[in-house]
Amino acid sequence: MSRISIGEISLNVVEEGQGTPLLLVHGFPLDHRMWLGQIAGLTDSYRVIAPDLRGFGQSDVTPGTATMEQHADDLAKLLDTLGVTEPIAFCGLSMGGYIAWQFFARHRQKLGKLILCDTRAIADSPDAAKGRMATADKVIKEGSQVVAEAMLGKLFAPAAIERKAEFVESTRQVMLGTKPEGVAAALRGMAARVDFTSRLASIDVPTLVLCGTSDAIAPLAEMQGIAAAIPGAKFAEIPDAGHMAPLEQPAAVNDRLRKFLAGTLV
Ligand code: MLT
Repeated sequence: MSRISIGEISLNVVEEGQGTPLLLVHGFPLDHRMWLGQIAGLTDSYRVIAPDLRGFGQSDVTPGTATMEQHADDLAKLLDTLGVTEPIAFCGLSMGGYIAWQFFARHRQKLGKLILCDTRAIADSPDAAKGRMATADKVIKEGSQVVAEAMLGKLFAPAAIERKAEFVESTRQVMLGTKPEGVAAALRGMAARVDFTSRLASIDVPTLVLCGTSDAIAPLAEMQGIAAAIPGAKFAEIPDAGHMAPLEQPAAVNDRLRKFLAGTLV
């Protein structure tokens, strides 16, 4: 784990292994720990880079709004600072996927492959955006538990919640540990994100779209639509998983990632 200055702020980053750089970009309101199963399972073949985004985990927090564009630029600076010169595989989950669209739009030259886990291409509806802005204010006043309580039940396949799998509790702790200013800034940034749907057809790097079959936030049918709109994209569904497929079913997700990165996923 290192702390890397990217100019005005520093980010906390796990960097392990050697090979093609694989950048793992976490969802909201989490940090790099949602990828522990991928860090453990893929560093034998890949240079895995798993940062805490601005405002999350142990990275610096900036008040106001953290846009998806700003996160994409932070990641480009991080790669430069780490001396990564070869094209990366960018793997983003949910908010990490929203950032992936902007990374493609702004830093295409750094991108070799794209992996979109449990994410959406559409923007928030006006009502949803308004709700996020109100939640941001509430989080500043009352704390990050506002979001933890609202989200936890939607993140996992019902069976995981019923059996009280340990990752449900560890995710709660990660959420509760996220600073309210960081949570609020990301909520405002997601509310302001642009609709990427009409640009999906312009994606010209090999792409994998991956989705837990019980995802309640980025539904399977919607993700199948995203894959169908990206030329040549592969689609993989992960059984017995919800929105947090990489955390819920690390072996199945790692298998699909390895095959996709090796070019053998059918
Ligand atoms: C996430 O997992 O990053 C969030 O569900 C994204 C969102 O709230 O739209």
